[in-house]
Amino acid sequence: MMNKRKRVDDNLITRRDPKSPISELYRTIRTNIDFSMIDKQLNTLICTSAKPCDGKTTTLTNLAVTFAQQGKKTLFVDADLRKPTGHMTFQLENDYGLTNVLTKKSTLKEAVATTVIEKLDVLTSGPLPPNPSELLGSQAMKELMREMAESYDLVLFDSPPVGAVTDAQVLGNLCDGALLVVRSNSTEKSQLVKAKELLEQANINIIGTILNDKKKDNTTVYYYSDQKKAK
Ligand SMILES: Nc1ncnc2c1ncn2[C@@H]1O[C@H](COP(=O)(O)OP(=O)(O)OP(=O)(O)O)[C@@H](O)[C@H]1O
Ligand SMILES: [Mg+2]
Repeated sequence: MMNKRKRVDDNLITRRDPKSPISELYRTIRTNIDFSMIDKQLNTLICTSAKPCDGKTTTLTNLAVTFAQQGKKTLFVDADLRKPTGHMTFQLENDYGLTNVLTKKSTLKEAVATTVIEKLDVLTSGPLPPNPSELLGSQAMKELMREMAESYDLVLFDSPPVGAVTDAQVLGNLCDGALLVVRSNSTEKSQLVKAKELLEQANINIIGTILNDKKKDNTTVYYYSDQKKAK
């Protein structure tokens, strides 16, 4: 089990072109999240959305890069144990990862991959288990989250959408806060309201909503707003 898997992450605009307007917008989101953190302990954040393809992985991987660029020791965890894609974004093998650590086949240190981005580590999903929700709600997950929070300034969890399966609620309940991604011209208002309800029922602190893929003047812009104003 080695840990020498360094790759170039050309898929990530925040790495490829940090000066672009889109990267700047990711920094704006980062600033907003930083403000939410001032009075609260927010080391572990989950990113989810109402339905598939809203842009959870795109948003969270770029935010992970942006936080690392700011100097925060950051861990991106692919906790989408249904349809993981984080390893593709970071161009990593996914033969082991989170699920191996949870089943004690590997330690966190062994399973984590370093990246060419200083301060950014990645834990891919690992082989897909038959029981993702149980694994994510296990005692092993709670212990692992404590270890992650001790080793990193910020731990960002990618997850499946809230609508279909309970994974995001189960994991979100263990996190300090949640980011809810909404895709412009795609997520229905009713789906968003339902997602928000499901997260709140699970006692999850939604720290913000991110509107993804908003087309404006032929450019894609990202907009972050306080959750109370986003209603
Ligand atoms: N703002 C954007 N502009 C252009 N393409 C985007 C944008 N956001 C996401 N995409 C594309 O849309 C697709 C879905 O995005 P992504 O994988 O980030 O969504 P997801 O919510 O993680 O999906 P899933 O529910 O399958 O995990 C990808 O092909 C991604 O490249
Ligand atoms: Mg995804």
